[in-house]
Amino acid sequence: MACDNGLRRRSNRDSRRLGRVSMPLVAPSLLAADFLHLESDVRRIEAAGVDWLHMDVMDGQFVPNLSFGPFIIKQIDGISALPLDVHLMISNPEKYIDAYLDAGADYLTVHGEVIQDNVAILDEIRRKGAHPGIALNPDAPVENYRHLFPHIDLFLVMSVYAGFGGQKFIPDVLHKVKTAAAWRQQHGFDYLISIDGGINTETAVAAKAAGADVLVAGTALFRAPDIPAFVRSLRS
Ligand code: DX5
Ligand code: ZN
Repeated sequence: MACDNGLRRRSNRDSRRLGRVSMPLVAPSLLAADFLHLESDVRRIEAAGVDWLHMDVMDGQFVPNLSFGPFIIKQIDGISALPLDVHLMISNPEKYIDAYLDAGADYLTVHGEVIQDNVAILDEIRRKGAHPGIALNPDAPVENYRHLFPHIDLFLVMSVYAGFGGQKFIPDVLHKVKTAAAWRQQHGFDYLISIDGGINTETAVAAKAAGADVLVAGTALFRAPDIPAFVRSLRS
């Protein structure tokens, strides 16, 4: 949230450093919410004790689907104090950084396949007060993006191909979670490792075992008959 005094609210990442937050964090993807009742869905998941709100932005170019943009994110920012974890699946993120920061993004994630060597965009996100992240699709080798890791606060491992909710978890991506955890240990980096796509109570077990700190869940979470129990089960 971009506050009037220029300060951003404390993120869970900062709290984690202070030892106040238990991992993994749970970040529902609002793509699976009921857009005719978005506020009541946000209230339902807040009451279930989730940690972040994950917002999937799609442009119909980088991915073959369209979702929503800064207007909706700003509205959500106006009704919730939870950190906003904004996942940009768009071709020209450099054009829209300011729009998403103004909308209230706390974590702003761009795809490594899009930015390639452009570390400046990550540094710009940080300079402007948010946490920069990179995401990689299942077929993008993490080793090819190693140069980006000193610049990020979040690594979003896609466990489905970006573009649609409700797909099946691809277990082959778990080696990227392990590699990123090993690099963090070796180099003293401090990014969080998030996993996104097909997360349910079963796949979460493997993701946590590999070292994921943040679980993004859309379809399984919003369809759960008892969302608080589902969130507890993701964490346990
Ligand atoms: C896919 C999105 C995901 C997805 C998660 O492009 O990045 O956040 O919506 O939803 P489920 O849990 O339905 O896979
Ligand atoms: Zn996402």
